[in-house]
Amino acid sequence: MKENLKLHVEEVEAILNEFLSEEKGVYYERVIDSMRYSFFAGGKRLRPMMMLESYRMFGGKDLAVIKPYMAALEMIHTYSLIHDDLPAMDNDDYRRGRLTNHKQFDEATAILAGDGLLNNAFEVVANAMVVTASAGNCELLKKQTKALQVLANKAGVYGMIGGQVADIEAEKKADATREELLFIHENKTAALIRAALTIGAILAGASEEDIMKMEQIGYNVGVAFQIQDDILDKIGDEALLGKPVGSDEKNEKTTYVTLEGLEKAQEDQKQLSEEAISMMNEITAEKVFLKDLIISLVNREK
Ligand code: IPE
Ligand code: IPE
Ligand code: MG
Ligand code: MG
Ligand code: MG
Repeated sequence: MKENLKLHVEEVEAILNEFLSEEKGVYYERVIDSMRYSFFAGGKRLRPMMMLESYRMFGGKDLAVIKPYMAALEMIHTYSLIHDDLPAMDNDDYRRGRLTNHKQFDEATAILAGDGLLNNAFEVVANAMVVTASAGNCELLKKQTKALQVLANKAGVYGMIGGQVADIEAEKKADATREELLFIHENKTAALIRAALTIGAILAGASEEDIMKMEQIGYNVGVAFQIQDDILDKIGDEALLGKPVGSDEKNEKTTYVTLEGLEKAQEDQKQLSEEAISMMNEITAEKVFLKDLIISLVNREK
């Protein structure tokens, strides 16, 4: 799996490299440098990888269709990390094995780089849609429009941003409930993973029923992923993670670990992932990489 995963990361990296090119000698050079600093800092590339694998699983063949959405989602994810690390939010100094964006540049640049990545994401998708519209391919345009709607929804107030707000509001709150925490995890993290899985399915032309199933799988994988993130914030290895451990404690966050303890967190994380695999098996009996990927996340150390 390790070797196979490495190949998949390389494939995604090569695709991401087609976007966000360098621009030198322009007045906005600094913000482009700052966007590229965080975007090309490594990272596991899970969301674009999941999107690509979901697309393939439902028979998607033309990579030109999926590429802009993969890049867009990773841009949105990267912006969410840049802003998450700001002093006004989690106030962290390391990310993806290097200084956080505001430490390397400055706060104003980090805010603008995040905004820049967010806008760039939608521009990249819009560019692809213009090409489809000019070619008069209505069938594809319909799918692209639906995928765009999902992307905007899951990245916004009804998804990642909504979760981040609730996460900040739950800081230092001794009486935060399990329900509240699940809202946070579902939105701040599962939303973008759901976007990955459903957009892949939508662009490949999957049935409504299968798209709904991918949405459910995205919930399970996303919440499991954030539970493991909470666990690693407690017992992980900074050098492996490329970001600080103990950030949650420093900020007095309510996490799955503070609420349920380490052992139950581990159990629940595993169970959510197992359920996701059974749902995957309902969709296809075939051995697809997406199943291996979901299983590998259960014991991830970074
Ligand atoms: C970190 O996401 C933020 C969370 C939602 C937990 P990742 O763990 O996927 O971060 P990168 O992309 O690999 O840096
Ligand atoms: C952040 O959750 C999720 C985002 C939307 C960025 P965390 O604050 O736990 O993520 P890390 O641990 O800093 O990566
Ligand atoms: Mg945070
Ligand atoms: Mg954080
Ligand atoms: Mg965390």
